[in-house]
Amino acid sequence: MKIVVIGGTGLIGSKTVAILRQRGHEVVAASPNTGVNTVTGEGLKQAMAGTQVVIDLANSPSFEDKAVLQFFETSGRNLLAAEAASGVRHHVALSIVGTDRTDNGYFRAKVAQEKLIKASGIPYTIIRSTQFMEFLRGIADSGTNGNIVRIAPGLFQPIAADDVAANVADVALAPPRNRIVEIAGPERAPFNEFVARYLKAVGDPREVVREPEARYFGGRVEEHSLVPLGEARLGRIGFDKWLRRSRAAA
Ligand SMILES: NC(=O)c1ccc[n+]([C@@H]2O[C@H](COP(=O)([O-])OP(=O)(O)OC[C@H]3O[C@@H](n4cnc5c(N)ncnc54)[C@H](OP(=O)(O)O)[C@@H]3O)[C@@H](O)[C@H]2O)c1
Repeated sequence: MKIVVIGGTGLIGSKTVAILRQRGHEVVAASPNTGVNTVTGEGLKQAMAGTQVVIDLANSPSFEDKAVLQFFETSGRNLLAAEAASGVRHHVALSIVGTDRTDNGYFRAKVAQEKLIKASGIPYTIIRSTQFMEFLRGIADSGTNGNIVRIAPGLFQPIAADDVAANVADVALAPPRNRIVEIAGPERAPFNEFVARYLKAVGDPREVVREPEARYFGGRVEEHSLVPLGEARLGRIGFDKWLRRSRAAA
């Protein structure tokens, strides 16, 4: 089967491409670097020819509120129009658990992306994932002032990128669900505790302070803002195992 992975050179994209190729599929890793740009439309029509499944794993180069909304809206419109024109049978996209439950600019852009998919008429599956473990350094950096990292105590359930990619590949090879499915890591604990464990494990001397008012991408983090409320498929890689693996790879 021919599968196009938009953002196929990114963190989740490259892992998903490798899994699908290993399973014998013809996979195009599409991104501006490989001549496919969902914002300008460059290379889209050619990439879609003969394609059965499209997996959208692209991310915005800028996380600024306006820029990220513009990215996901423009990219989504161009991509879905190209898919409709060439008869793609399943659109898979990666979104975020809690996108519609917290008020931050990045999450609003993901809601806009989801709306375009639902309205497109193309059979789809939207996978909402919790935060990637690989994202913890960036989260710590964004909450840092001097040697102090302020993080809210709301619940957090990060998932390893390898588990995300395995789930994305499984969903792409199954029939469209025409609904949202959720995935999360195997452990749930306060956000500040995960960040503190991460920094300690990598030998980072910054101190994590529990701060209920600390924002995440500009949004408030309530107790259940970032974790699945209903059924979710859980990743297999626990946080300690992921830390050991990432230290060994460093
Ligand atoms: N971070 C989290 O914790 C989290 C949690 C849940 C869901 N997600 C979602 O997961 C998805 C993948 O994230 P990631 O961290 O794997 O992304 P990433 O590593 O930043 O990769 C982004 C990819 O998007 C491509 N891209 C950028 N602009 C493009 C354009 N105009 N046209 C086509 N492709 C374009 C990039 O291509 P180049 O390499 O050519 O620039 C790259 O392949 C995102 O949609 C994100 O919202 C993230």
